[in-house]
Amino acid sequence: MADQEAVSQAVQASPEVPVLRWEEPPEGPVLVLLDQTRLPAEEVELVCTDVPALVEAVGSLAVRGAPLLGIAGAYGVALAAARGYDVEEAAELLAHARPTAVNLGLGVRRGLEAYRRAAGGGAGRAEAAAAALAEARALHREDAEASARMAEHGASLLHELLPGGTYRILTHCNTGRLVSGGEGTALAVVRAVHRTGRLRRLWVDETRPLLQGARLTAWEAARAGMPYSLLTDNAAGSLFSAGEVDAVLIGADRIAADGSVANKVGSYPLAVLARYHHVPFVVVAPVTTVDPETPDGASIEVEQRPAHEVTECAAAHGPGAGREAGGGHLVTPLGTQAYNPAFDVTPAELVTAIVTERGVLSPVTPDGIGQLCAGSRRA
Ligand code: MRU
Repeated sequence: MADQEAVSQAVQASPEVPVLRWEEPPEGPVLVLLDQTRLPAEEVELVCTDVPALVEAVGSLAVRGAPLLGIAGAYGVALAAARGYDVEEAAELLAHARPTAVNLGLGVRRGLEAYRRAAGGGAGRAEAAAAALAEARALHREDAEASARMAEHGASLLHELLPGGTYRILTHCNTGRLVSGGEGTALAVVRAVHRTGRLRRLWVDETRPLLQGARLTAWEAARAGMPYSLLTDNAAGSLFSAGEVDAVLIGADRIAADGSVANKVGSYPLAVLARYHHVPFVVVAPVTTVDPETPDGASIEVEQRPAHEVTECAAAHGPGAGREAGGGHLVTPLGTQAYNPAFDVTPAELVTAIVTERGVLSPVTPDGIGQLCAGSRRA
């Protein structure tokens, strides 16, 4: 562990690069993103001057994770408005850039509704653009606040479920500062636990094929000085059977009205393992991720990603992994087809609790989801 500590100190010393920010240089407003395809090798920013560039950034996962996609969507509408593009058309493009995370469409709608309200009330183009920008900023702030509340509720829940000890937490994908206006969802809870000295170990699933765990969660864990270890996704079973996991904490891209949870592919097998081994399986997500209009898990559209993400070795791509076909090292016979869903769906019965900024829902039932959502939808 000594080596890991030294490396953690080195990465902590480098300043935080904002994950997403709005800037107004003389040439016109831009949305600046930390390019997540290049982490951890390089901290490179991507400057989006128009909506097609932002749509491309969403598709390539340069900007990713449900809450951040919502924030980016709202800023995208503001960008289109401020740059004089067709706002309705831009909103349509942005909302469909990826299908599974409900936050994306919601963020776009919030920006668009603010723009329409202002324009419909007689505001000029610049004023309506300012209204969309104000809405994006509000969503950004709200997400940071929600993140802080989820961290509190999640840490208290773990304390209740596993009294008096330190925890070995297994997580999947990346759910930290890189996906949020604040500290994230599941990883925000882990950070809170770490701050109180209760984190014995964070088990980081590498998260095939685009390695959000290995590249991004490990990067965040190192910067936070957490004790963490990386495992291949298929090593999780032996970790559970060795009794090394006290809780699983994951995020969500969409939670249906029946409590089904869509999250990064590989989450469902963890839920099955957790149930078999009597380990709590906890989902942490803001209320904006709960979609009462999606009735059940089968109705959630799961994004299918290109085959090259599986047939090529992402680790061999280096910086920019996942961005373009043919950039990696082919590990299969030429022409191999691939099954590459980006997400899977975990039924409510396997979820111990859903933690939101409003508190903890457990057990997860359709009624509970309904109460959680009551009055919470905007736009
Ligand atoms: O394909 P990605 O990297 O956007 O997938 C992200 C996830 O699956 C996260 O777990 C989810 O968005 C929750 S993040 C708070």
